Amino acid sequence: SPALRVTEWSDVADWWPRLGPESEKYTRGVVGVATGSATYPGAAVLSVGGALAGPTGLVRYAGGARAEVVHRYPSVIATGRVADAGRVQAWVCGSGLGTDEHAAAELRAVLAAPVPVVLDADALTLLVDGSLADRLRERDAPIVVTPHDREFTRLCGEAPDGDRVGAALRLAAWMNAVVLLKGDRTVVAMPGGRAYVNPTGTPALATGGTGDVLAGLLGSLLAAGLPAERAATAAAYLHGLAGREAARGGPVTAPDVASALRPVVAPLLG
Ligand code: APR
Ligand code: MG
Repeated sequence: SPALRVTEWSDVADWWPRLGPESEKYTRGVVGVATGSATYPGAAVLSVGGALAGPTGLVRYAGGARAEVVHRYPSVIATGRVADAGRVQAWVCGSGLGTDEHAAAELRAVLAAPVPVVLDADALTLLVDGSLADRLRERDAPIVVTPHDREFTRLCGEAPDGDRVGAALRLAAWMNAVVLLKGDRTVVAMPGGRAYVNPTGTPALATGGTGDVLAGLLGSLLAAGLPAERAATAAAYLHGLAGREAARGGPVTAPDVASALRPVVAPLLG
């Protein structure tokens, strides 16, 4: 059906924002990353790594792993709280954030910002536990949720077995959000009934932390101004290619996927 498409490279190339001579770091977009914690600093480093491979000109990190992030990526501006981060054009929230009161407060701060958000991992747990999921329908700015199957099951109340596209579309309609359902053939489902299936995935990505890299990349595409459906579809596609690229060098770790996004994205930069 025309409402269901398989993503192609040409889609991503059409959507990727071009750099012109007038480009300036703020006009390229600023992405805010509210991930990680003292307990899970790696999730912060990975999501920031994904964000830095995207088209934005600036990454602001707000969370509990400032030292680790800035040590690894000196170009990132880091603060401890979302409220102190300054202006961003999109937020990424959840990976390694934890689920305590502090994490819940940071999620609420992200949701209060009138900009697109990516909600992953612990942010999804907080949505379910705090009964926030149905409240998201009232939010004006776009939301992309990026569940794997277990996260999807908790959000939705039922597993995405069998008809994954149908299941993702139902959750998208209920939440009024773009749903990126991760897995072998990642599905990106829009509330309006359209969906993309991603053909680039690889089981090499089935290793801890690759989802955090995806969330960061997706946030960068949103902050650069892509509509949520295009940002999510393009992020899944490029992330899959990066997994394949990384696997050429042997067993894949999540930092390899963040690094491999650079050669994957390079042909889009011309
Ligand atoms: N084929 C293609 N892609 C796959 C496959 C596969 N067989 N398996 C996994 N992937 C991709 C997914 O599509 C997704 O992009 O790898 C990524 C994995 O992301 P997550 O499931 O979010 O895993 P991640 O968060 O990186 O690591 C596991 O999740 O449940 C939590 O707390 C748990 O820390 C753990 C974390
Ligand atoms: Mg994850």
